[in-house]
Amino acid sequence: MKLGIIILAAGQGTRMRSKLPKVLHPLAGKPLLKHVIDCAKELEPETIAVVYGHGGELVPESLSTEPVEWVEQAKQLGTGHAVAQAMKATRGLDRVIVLYGDVPLIRAETLRHLNDRAAQGVGVLTVELSDPTGYGRILRDDARHVMRIVEQKDATPDELSVCEINSGIMSIGRSNLDDWLARIGNDNAQGEFYLTDIVGLAVADGVPVEGVMIDNAAELMGINDRVQLAALEREYQRQRAAELMRQGVTLLDPARFDLRGTLRYGRDVTIDINVLIEGDVTLGDDVHVGANTVLRNCCIGDEVHIRENCVIEDAKIGPGCRIGPFSRIRPGTELVGANHVGNFVEIKKSRIDEGSKINHLSYVGDSVIGRKVNIGAGTITCNYDGANKHQTRIGDGAFIGSNTALVAPVAIGPGATIGAGSIISKDAPEERLTLSRAKQTTIEGWRRPIKEKK
Ligand code: UD1
Ligand code: MG
Repeated sequence: MKLGIIILAAGQGTRMRSKLPKVLHPLAGKPLLKHVIDCAKELEPETIAVVYGHGGELVPESLSTEPVEWVEQAKQLGTGHAVAQAMKATRGLDRVIVLYGDVPLIRAETLRHLNDRAAQGVGVLTVELSDPTGYGRILRDDARHVMRIVEQKDATPDELSVCEINSGIMSIGRSNLDDWLARIGNDNAQGEFYLTDIVGLAVADGVPVEGVMIDNAAELMGINDRVQLAALEREYQRQRAAELMRQGVTLLDPARFDLRGTLRYGRDVTIDINVLIEGDVTLGDDVHVGANTVLRNCCIGDEVHIRENCVIEDAKIGPGCRIGPFSRIRPGTELVGANHVGNFVEIKKSRIDEGSKINHLSYVGDSVIGRKVNIGAGTITCNYDGANKHQTRIGDGAFIGSNTALVAPVAIGPGATIGAGSIISKDAPEERLTLSRAKQTTIEGWRRPIKEKK
C-alpha cells in the first residue's frame, strides 16, 4: 500500500496573538508542526505534503531541512480546499492520511490502527468529549454506522447534543478522494469547503466509513491558544515522566520534570525536582541529578553526582565526578573522571584529566589540565586578551594556590606549586614553587592615623 500524508497547517492561528505562525510555537522545545512531521515519518509514507498559508513563508523556511513537500494554500477556503491543493503531491498513491499541524500529540501507532480499520474505505479518528463545543460532530445511525459529520455552526440542537467529535484526522482511499473533493461545495454556515463532507459522500457511494474512537483525548487535541498549548505541554511532560519512571528512572516529582529532547539513561538514575533536560542527554548508571539543574546536550558518566543548581551544556562528564552545587559547565568541556567541581566554578572548552579538583569560585577556559591537579579557590585563567583566546596548560599533580591569575598562553609544569595570589604570565617549571607577588613586610613604628581636632 502506497501511503501519502497531508498535513494541514495553513490556518492563521489568530488566537495565539503572536507574530510567529501557530504551528511554529514550540511544545517540549520543538515546533508543533515538527512533532506532526516526525509522527508522519514514522509511518514511512511515499510523501509528506504540508499545506501552509499565504505569507506564512516562515513555516517552510524554519523547517527547510524536513523531507516534505511544501504546498501553498493562498486563501484559506476550508479543510477540503486545503487537501485539494496537496493532491498533486499524492498522485499514484493508494491512500492518504490527513493530519493537522496543530494537533501535536498524535502517535504513529494510532494512525496504523486507523489505517487498518479504514482499509475498505474511509476512517476518521474520533473521541467523546464531555464538552464537545466547537467541534464537528459524528452522526451515526441506529446501527452505529457513521453517516456524516456536521460542523458546530451548521448543526441542529439535536446534533449539538452529540458528544462524539471529529478530530479531523482521516485516512482515505486515494482514488475516491479525488472524486469527492471535486464534489464538495461551500454552501454552509462558514462558506468553506469542508473536508468533513466527504464522509456523507462516501456513505452515499456505498463506501464504508469507520469512526475509530480512541480513549486518549490528548492525542487528538488541537491547539488554538496559549492556554491549550500549556495544557498539552503538561500532558506531554506527564507522559514522558511516566515512561521514564516505568523504565526505572526515579523522578522525585514527575510534575516538576521537563524533557525537551531525548534522554538516554542507565540503571538507578535519580532526578530531583525542577530538572530541565534539553537536546540529547545521556546519563550513565547511578547518576544523581540535583534540584534545579539544567542539562543540555551532554553525556554524564556512571556514578556522577550533580548537586543543586548546576547548568551543564555540550559537555562530557566522566564517571565518578562530583559537580556543584552552583557549577556551570559550558560547551567543549570534558571532565575525564573522578573530578570535583564545586560552587561558583565556570569551566569552558577545557579538558580536565582524572581526579583533578576545582572546588571553589574559579574560571577555567581554553585549558588542558592534567591528572590530580588542585586548582585553588578563586583561580582565573585569563584566556582572552581582548582580541584572541589563548590556552592554559597545567601538568599532572600541579597545585595552583588560591586567587591566582594564569595569563594565557601559559604552561604550568607537572608537580609545580603556584603560590597564592600570584599573577603568572610566564611558564612555571615542574616540581618547583613559583610565585609572583610583593614580599610581605611589617613596618616598624607605624601608627594608625588619629582624627584631627577642628
Ligand atoms: C475542523 C473540522 C471539525 C473538527 C475540528 C477538529 C472541518 C470542516 N472541520 O474544524 O470537524 O472537529 O477541525 O479540530 O474540517 N486549515 C488549512 N486550510 C484551510 C482551513 C484549515 O490548512 O483552509 C488547517 C488549519 O490550519 C488547521 C486545520 O486545517 O490545522 C483545521 O482547521 P480549523 O479551521 O481549525 O478547523 P475547525 O473549524 O476547527
Ligand atoms: Mg480548529
